[in-house]
Amino acid sequence: SPDEVVNITYITKDGKKVPIKGKVGDNVLRLAQRYDIPMEGACEASLACTTCHVYIKSNHELPTAEPEEEDLLDMAPFLKECSRLGCQIVLTKDMEGLEIELPQATRNFYVDGHVPTPH
Ligand code: FES
Repeated sequence: SPDEVVNITYITKDGKKVPIKGKVGDNVLRLAQRYDIPMEGACEASLACTTCHVYIKSNHELPTAEPEEEDLLDMAPFLKECSRLGCQIVLTKDMEGLEIELPQATRNFYVDGHVPTPH
């Protein structure tokens, strides 16, 4: 139904704004992938990477991040106050007008080997 639509905007790292009609319940990573927005999501939303790192540019109050998300975000390059993991954001009606910006770069520490391995 039309009242389920949530209009959001992705901002690519070159500053291009891409408006997308999402729906309540859509995952911000999956939605990006469906519309060819370059958000990687290497671990397929299983909280094991930071390649879905995004900035929340609009003044929306999102549900608080779980500790697991916070821990991963600490390892994301170009971390900001408004950083979140895109795969952990599920659209609600309250998110109408949400603006999500992609960082300059992301890092997949499991592949790139930036996480020290235990001995
Ligand atoms: Fe890996 Fe979001 S896709 S944590």
